[in-house]
Amino acid sequence: MKVNSLDLKRQYETIREEIDKAVLEVIRSQSFILGGYVESFEGKIAQFCCVKHAIGVSSGTDALLLALMACGIKNGDEVITTPFTFFATASSIARLGAVPVFVDIDPITYNIDVTKIPAAVTKKTKAILPVHLYGQCANMDAILDIARIHGLRVVEDAAQAIGATYKGRNAGSFGDVGCFSFYPTKNLGGYGDGGLITTNDDKLAEFIRILRVHGSKSKYYHSHIGINGRLDAIQAAVLSVKLNYLSGWSKKRRGVAAYYQEHLKDLPIRLPQIDSHNIHIFHQYVIATPDRDALAKYLDLQGIETAIYYPVPLHLQECFDFLGYERGGLPESERASHETLALPIFPEITGKEQDQVIGHIKKFISQQ
Ligand SMILES: Cc1ncc(COP(=O)(O)O)c(C=O)c1O
Repeated sequence: MKVNSLDLKRQYETIREEIDKAVLEVIRSQSFILGGYVESFEGKIAQFCCVKHAIGVSSGTDALLLALMACGIKNGDEVITTPFTFFATASSIARLGAVPVFVDIDPITYNIDVTKIPAAVTKKTKAILPVHLYGQCANMDAILDIARIHGLRVVEDAAQAIGATYKGRNAGSFGDVGCFSFYPTKNLGGYGDGGLITTNDDKLAEFIRILRVHGSKSKYYHSHIGINGRLDAIQAAVLSVKLNYLSGWSKKRRGVAAYYQEHLKDLPIRLPQIDSHNIHIFHQYVIATPDRDALAKYLDLQGIETAIYYPVPLHLQECFDFLGYERGGLPESERASHETLALPIFPEITGKEQDQVIGHIKKFISQQ
């Protein structure tokens, strides 16, 4: 039996009528960009994330770019972040002419190692950009403390962490700005590209709304050089339907993760560890073993789809050669890129499918 790492068709089948109706309504309205559907979605998701302002944007990548622009990040500034993340985390910094300063990760959670941040702060540092990787929040108390001491902005990359909490507070509600992605494979995925910015700061919210439409408050009058960063109405309509199910889906994901934990716990592989302050939303369920490549190949031959997030840490990406990092410089990120493997996880995965995954992992290990 083939087991997919994700099956969006199954999810669509459970909400097909509502989605089709919502999409058709937008088409009938012939109002496609921003407008009432987007505003209504922004209101609902602001409540869900427990923030004052939610601003729908064109993607998670543009959310990061707009957030950094709004925080005034510019040429020559330094922004501290993790190298063990999706490319957009760092490219959004570099696109503004700023310098991503990579700090190694904590090998337990795969999030930025907060004990290593202070040594990376210089006179040029303007912000810290933590990522809540795989759906688990970074150590926000420590990050906010460091930011306060040094007068830095905090931009959260919460692209993978919608609904995750740290000490009872929601991802995206800690920093100056939170950034989310609605890429279709995300826990709250649109039917195309989309993203969101959250903030409790009225001035930043107003500025981001201006930057999102080419830096103009009234049409054709441009106070700033912004971007085309708008969310479209079809995405907002789809996301509004799906938002009603998100908490239930996250609960199911946690159930799927608990089942893996229970059945894999005696094997010589590292399982995800949930920090006691955190509610993890398991965007990914990621195990680790030095035999990762052989295990992935074996599972593939058995029809089990897995994925590697991420095979090359960002400090070793060719495009960042100019930053001057060496192989071995950030050893935990490099180790994670060689050892981590994401197993199939989605709310609709069956126990039978999970048993297949677990059985084949056990078989692989028994053959070693
Ligand atoms: C951690 C992280 N940051 C940023 C992004 C960028 O989001 P998008 O693909 O919506 O541009 C993603 C999505 O893949 C992500 O996982």
